Amino acid sequence: MKESDILAKNDQMNYIKRSSELLKNNEERSGKKLTASVITFGCQMNARDSEKLAGILVSAGFELLEDTEDADFVLYNTCTVRDNANQKLYGHLGEALSRKKKNPDMMVAVCGCLPQEPSALEKLKKSYSFVDLIFGTHNLYAFPEYLCRLLAGERHIFEIVDHTDNIVEDLPVLRKYPFKSGVNIMFGCNNFCTYCIVPHVRGRERSRDSSDILEEIKKLSASGVKEVMLLGQNVNSYGNSLSGEISFPELLKRVCDIDGIQRVRFMTSHPKDLSEDLIRTIKNNDKICRHLHLPLQSGSTKVLKEMNRRYTKEQYVDLALHIKDEIPEIALTTDIMVGFPGETAGDVDDTIDVIETVKYDNAFTFIYSKRMGTPAAVREDQVPPDLVKISFDRVLKCVQETAKEQSLRWQGQILDALVEEENDSLEGYVTGRLSNNMIVHFPASSSLIGNIVPVRLEECRGFYYMGSEVK
Ligand code: 5AD
Ligand code: SF4
Repeated sequence: MKESDILAKNDQMNYIKRSSELLKNNEERSGKKLTASVITFGCQMNARDSEKLAGILVSAGFELLEDTEDADFVLYNTCTVRDNANQKLYGHLGEALSRKKKNPDMMVAVCGCLPQEPSALEKLKKSYSFVDLIFGTHNLYAFPEYLCRLLAGERHIFEIVDHTDNIVEDLPVLRKYPFKSGVNIMFGCNNFCTYCIVPHVRGRERSRDSSDILEEIKKLSASGVKEVMLLGQNVNSYGNSLSGEISFPELLKRVCDIDGIQRVRFMTSHPKDLSEDLIRTIKNNDKICRHLHLPLQSGSTKVLKEMNRRYTKEQYVDLALHIKDEIPEIALTTDIMVGFPGETAGDVDDTIDVIETVKYDNAFTFIYSKRMGTPAAVREDQVPPDLVKISFDRVLKCVQETAKEQSLRWQGQILDALVEEENDSLEGYVTGRLSNNMIVHFPASSSLIGNIVPVRLEECRGFYYMGSEVK
């Protein structure tokens, strides 16, 4: 960590102390224990950020309520990758206003990607003026300071900056699961796919020092974590923003070497940067999970070029088939977008051709959403919604059929599952995750949670299995 990051960290730790004093005063005044809740939208990065925000709230003395908006302090950690994420937040804020009218102590805060987009920020300030605190992705680490100001009675705190000065390590974190954790290895993205708002709201790519990452994972392991997921928008370019830093495959190897770490995952890989070295590293290391998320976006070379993806249909297919050839037990998943400007039925045929050739184990299918400030948004050849719907249904049908077929290939096998939780709907059952990221439900006691156990996969039910523990 560089000197200014250490100073920034110390500042924030002091703000946490000060917040806890102010919170106590507020609790005395209102005669009750004050509660807080963090509501998360979007990707794994946001989920990890929310664990950090929750850690700060708990360290300041709030009682944390899970998944409820009935708390005295509600923090919405937002996403803006597609417009429906924005609409979802506005729906929640509408309900927050009616709660706030009933509970005068209630504080509402919005953070994350959405406020980094200027028009969304304007809308927040104008139409949701009851929101007490707004901050963005670049100053998430300064949440203790904003919290302190709120608890001291300040309102309408709007702190949005357009770049990151510090990577602040080691602030408190409250993990959702004691036995697995996400670990940021880099922030931001430099790829500028022409449809994507992420580089605009998360900024340029910045890798964390490998020594800080490895130190964090050693501490996680010492506290009982068995599985880590290394997080970045494009993990294959890890280290590029730092001189003399190790490569992503080397980082993976070093993470695997940490005592107590039994499984390592990572997300997301950009196909243009996926190296032979990475394929070899996965193949030769059993701790690296047999799951690779390799976003395709489109199967049409013409559309890919316009998206600035920097690979062709043929290059993608060759890469995917080569990976499957080298590591047959790997599960490949992907993201596919339908309705990019100018997309024709012929382009969708190409996408379907790739799905049928690669045979994904699972795929997330999205309808293109126009994002303000991106090059694709100003194109005049936007595809009419009725045509997008026809293409979307074709792609979805193909994805579902191939994924179903792929899921069946594990039938009857015995694979290790990390037991994650009790099953909510089947009494006496637990839910585990396989190395290939599939889910299996099987009868067992909840005392197994956090353990890795062999499970026989007995019945495939679409995208998950019913099984039994092999003792
Ligand atoms: N519209 C629809 N989907 C998008 N994604 C990113 N930007 C957009 C957009 N403007 C999808 C991509 C990416 C995933 C995280 O979200 O498929 O891989
Ligand atoms: Fe967006 Fe492309 Fe970066 Fe992924 S790689 S975050 S799709 S710009």
